[in-house]
Amino acid sequence: MPRRRPATTVEGATRAPDRRRLAAGKAESAECRRCPLWRHATQTVFGAGPADASIVLVGEQPGDQEDLAGEPFVGPAGQLLRKAMREARLDEGIAYRTNAVKHFKWEARGKRRIHERPTTSEVLACQIWLELELAAIAPRLVVALGATAVRSLLGPSARVLRDRGKILSSPTGVDVLVTVHPSSILRAPDEIARREAYDAFVADLRAARRRLASRIARVRPSGVSPKTTPAETG
Ligand code: URA
Repeated sequence: MPRRRPATTVEGATRAPDRRRLAAGKAESAECRRCPLWRHATQTVFGAGPADASIVLVGEQPGDQEDLAGEPFVGPAGQLLRKAMREARLDEGIAYRTNAVKHFKWEARGKRRIHERPTTSEVLACQIWLELELAAIAPRLVVALGATAVRSLLGPSARVLRDRGKILSSPTGVDVLVTVHPSSILRAPDEIARREAYDAFVADLRAARRRLASRIARVRPSGVSPKTTPAETG
């Protein structure tokens, strides 16, 4: 039996996640032709994780490995993300992973496929899928990883470096914690810079865990004993 979590709506009421809508969105997005990126990608990479996730992590777009595997965050950035989540004691089992853009955009350099940043119109064309995922899951918190996710979720005036660590309300009423993309940590120029960037990223994920814990405490009816995951305690 799948776990059933009443998700929190903007109004603070609760409702069950819409598993059917999420599954239908995944099937429909496999045929997406809303922008030209599908032409050079192997497949649409829809989000992955439990439909009743408390938290949704949003990256930019699938990378080379994700494009081949058909699953988000399975490559080096995903490994770093998972390590940081463990260190922040944010339980992977309550997290759904996805991207602002669902097709891999790349250019050939020799035999390698090198990541290219999606344009604003490509991000806008793909917003329909991200919005569907968030509406179906109704998570308690969304974590925007890097500039593309931040702009897709919060609009063009949001800024990663100015707003990182803050929880902002999206135009659709979802709480969004702003942080950097894990790839930016991998690209840091030296070991010291990498360590600092990583520690700051873990601190942001800890803030996400604390926010989840406080929201869960707020929505739990009185007299109901707390059912916590490791990520929601401490
Ligand atoms: N980078 C992303 O933004 N998403 C992935 O799925 C992988 C790498």
